[in-house]
Amino acid sequence: MSRCQIISLPDLSKARNRQDGASVKYDEAVYSDALRFFAKGRKYLVKTFGCQGNVRDEEVISGYLEKAGFSKTTDEKAANIVIINTCAVRENAEDKVYGEIGKFKANAKTDKDFILGVCGCMMQEENKAESLIKTYPFIRLIFGTHNIADLPSMLDRVISSHQGLVDVISYPGDVIENLPSIRLDPYKAFVNISYGCDKFCTYCIVPYTRGRERSRPLQSILDECRKLIEDGYQEITLLGQNVNSYGKDFHDGTNFATVLEEVAKLGIPRLRFTTSHPWDFSLDMLDTIAKYPNIMKCIHLPVQSGSTAVLRQMGRRYTREQYLDLVKAIRERMPECAITTDIIVGFPNETEEQFAETLTLCQELKYDAAFTFIYSPRAGTPAAKMVDNVSDEVKHERFNRLLKVVEEGVVYHSSKMVGKAYDVLVDGPSKKNEAILSGYTESNKLVNFPGPVYLKGHIVKVKITENHAFSMLGQLEEDPVDVLLRSASEKLKQEPAYIQYLAAKKVFEEDKELQAALHEKEAAQKALALSMGSEDYENKKAAFAKISAFVDNNPNYINFVSSTADLRDLFAEMKALLQ
Ligand code: 5AD
Ligand code: SF4
Repeated sequence: MSRCQIISLPDLSKARNRQDGASVKYDEAVYSDALRFFAKGRKYLVKTFGCQGNVRDEEVISGYLEKAGFSKTTDEKAANIVIINTCAVRENAEDKVYGEIGKFKANAKTDKDFILGVCGCMMQEENKAESLIKTYPFIRLIFGTHNIADLPSMLDRVISSHQGLVDVISYPGDVIENLPSIRLDPYKAFVNISYGCDKFCTYCIVPYTRGRERSRPLQSILDECRKLIEDGYQEITLLGQNVNSYGKDFHDGTNFATVLEEVAKLGIPRLRFTTSHPWDFSLDMLDTIAKYPNIMKCIHLPVQSGSTAVLRQMGRRYTREQYLDLVKAIRERMPECAITTDIIVGFPNETEEQFAETLTLCQELKYDAAFTFIYSPRAGTPAAKMVDNVSDEVKHERFNRLLKVVEEGVVYHSSKMVGKAYDVLVDGPSKKNEAILSGYTESNKLVNFPGPVYLKGHIVKVKITENHAFSMLGQLEEDPVDVLLRSASEKLKQEPAYIQYLAAKKVFEEDKELQAALHEKEAAQKALALSMGSEDYENKKAAFAKISAFVDNNPNYINFVSSTADLRDLFAEMKALLQ
């Protein structure tokens, strides 16, 4: 960026601020004529690193870009605007970003209007934006996690000034509703229930990059979920850095159990949530998870360490024993519930004994899956200031030992799956083989099995035939055509025309006067036919006309007949869909 306008840069002392309350705002982005003109015929690409929160941000960024008039491409060379959405949680996540930025130098060389933007958590760290614009002068826009909603106006400035722009705000953060969004998956959706985090675990940069913990209004969450269900979504994952603390900022008793229950009642086939913090996980939340069959029995419960002393230094607020008690409570209520976790190896000054406690905890609990990380110091966090006496070599050696123990737990669960049938939500053809479908079980186990592509987005029964530890091989247990018919019938039941038909039918059948008149009409028709050629014919004709008119003018009858006609249109539409 030869000339660059710096509007604001991040400041971790401001990012730490948790004083004022968050307010709810609505998206009011303005799309200038210059931006619309520029966007027409140009293609965008967003590349995301990191967690599901970032994936959801990508959908919002795409929403803004498409509203401006850009169209999506997956071809890096063809892209006229690329946004790299970064992660800051560990150093290796950041290293990937540098390589990614470098790739787009060629685009900037061949296309003088090419826009490379960099955003996300890494940009919220101090000094990152300045160093990026120095090293990669072809970057034209840098923004943070708090000002995604300003994207149209920032792009307008970039386009009209021909200058680069850096605008990263450090503030506790607000909630913005009505965000535009282009969802990445047609069947599985992420729905934010809260933003930010107030836990300040000593190793973690997230509370600084994502701001204070602020819950979305319950009604906004429910409206978004309702719309997703109407659009045919099969799975919703409620997102928050710490979902269990949802609603604490409302001070009105609303909590995570409330939002879980309300969303489950909307009838989404699969409801998931992540991430859970053991400290905020109450028993009433467990009761709600146990109560609703559509809440997936699969809890991601990061433990981070099995040592109470290390947990204290990490600022995790629970002991090893309290964590074990929570897992016990989960398994008492839901013996089949899958439990997964995150573990950090090599926190500053972790002793061999403390690490061994993590190993014994994993051996005892046998996690269904675990994400394991080597501790990565993050500038500005308390842990980064600690003097560390553990060498990299020891950390790597511990990491490898932990992987082995984690795998034992994974295999313990996966081996028990062989021979049993599970519901699998089909994602589509597997990455490695077009003829094989892949999808996930309730416990989030990846299953591959042969089947027709049209099962994408359906929940099907699959019998597990082979255990490959981190994925399973299976066979369809039901006829794929039956799956389609079942889902068509389920969809039909939710169609307004069908619901109206059922209501009209009920009123029609319960209208005693109308039912008697229908019998009378039938008898009059018979009498009319029998009187054919006799002198009574005219009388019978008049009687039939009279009762027919009575029936035809009855509002309940009219309603029923017209709802049947609407149903016929619906069947025609469904037939076209099935074809
Ligand atoms: N170093 C290593 N791992 C970290 N995590 C968060 N911060 C760090 C860090 N500084 C891990 C935690 C968290 C997951 C998302 O990333 O395990 O649960
Ligand atoms: Fe980071 Fe801890 Fe918040 Fe999770 S709970 S985002 S680990 S500070």
